[in-house]
Amino acid sequence: MTDLLISPQLGQPGPPAGGSPVATRLDRAALRELAHHSREVLQAGQAETGALIASPAFTVYRYCWLRDGAFCAHALDRIGQSGQAVAFFRWVGRTLAGQEAKAESALTRFATGEKLSAADFLNTRFTLEGTEETGEEEWWNFQLDGYGTWLWAFGEHLRRAPNEKLREELRPAVELTVRYLSAFWRLPNYDCWEENVDDVHPATLAAIYGGLVAAGKKQANALRRFVRANGLLEGSLVKSLGREDVDASLLGAGVPYGLFPPRGKIMLKTLDRIAKELVAPDGGVYRYRKDVYFGGGEWLLLTAWLGWYYTQAGQREKALDCLHWVARQARPNGDMPEQVTNYLLAPEHRQPWEEKWGLSASPLLWSHAMYLVLYTNLFGEGRL
Ligand code: BGC
Repeated sequence: MTDLLISPQLGQPGPPAGGSPVATRLDRAALRELAHHSREVLQAGQAETGALIASPAFTVYRYCWLRDGAFCAHALDRIGQSGQAVAFFRWVGRTLAGQEAKAESALTRFATGEKLSAADFLNTRFTLEGTEETGEEEWWNFQLDGYGTWLWAFGEHLRRAPNEKLREELRPAVELTVRYLSAFWRLPNYDCWEENVDDVHPATLAAIYGGLVAAGKKQANALRRFVRANGLLEGSLVKSLGREDVDASLLGAGVPYGLFPPRGKIMLKTLDRIAKELVAPDGGVYRYRKDVYFGGGEWLLLTAWLGWYYTQAGQREKALDCLHWVARQARPNGDMPEQVTNYLLAPEHRQPWEEKWGLSASPLLWSHAMYLVLYTNLFGEGRL
């Protein structure tokens, strides 16, 4: 990763002890510098194979997740690096070709009423070569949202840069994904934070919806009906069916997946809950109130996501606040971590995680990607 001259405004420490946080704004040049650095992180994080590593410096994240990778590819499309996005989509195509037999077997056995185990489903992450990982630790692999997210990102790519050849090339991967999601979407599976395998998550269903719509599948409406009937509490979306709390990943139900209109009642109520319950005093966004992962910090990608939402809801000033908050969390060299410790929800859980896996991930490509998404939403798409 190139070391760049970053303005001294970056890499500021957390909030002053005891006082209210000072929300300093950076100048445009510093924001642009961070956008350039983000582009470099996404470039350096792409393997020859096209895979995008989740985080190069954090051992357990040295894999390519469909979810993280798809958002990175989308960010690359927005900043005129569509060649890199295409390389990622091709990697997905090859990877899923390698998974075809496994997927077909799961589909056939499921159709005949067999009960499948988590290991029978496709993985959420793969090695950079596109094979199933054989890491020491067993991962929480049964997650469906990434399969929806890659379809959504590929749809966005083709919308920006129509390309029949590429569409044809990836048709088998798209069709396999559509059949897979159409068969399994009702099953409980891990959420996008790789937790709660026994539950069904509206945010996951939203990603699947976004993917099916991108692939032109009308049955996506069944998901909307299902969530409307089962996933609301007093008109606002819940984290998982049967629970009462909210999760910031539900932003996706409005932007970008459009399960519900971003300015409609359901999403505005959900947005309101997220803003009230999941935003820390300095403006950073938590995943959910009971989060303990690395102490339960504020996530850069979620704060950028909230800003993205605000741009779609016509609230530019709030979106700018989010962008500036994310920018202020960058390390002095511009790297953006997964989360920061300014206002931990569960500080006593930080050390055990650090002892297990080392310091929390930085740079996280998905954080950089979401910064670029918000940055381009505010200042325009195109080459940086
Ligand atoms: C997060 C996932 C993410 C993965 C890789 C996990 O800790 O919960 O959402 O895909 O890290 O970045």
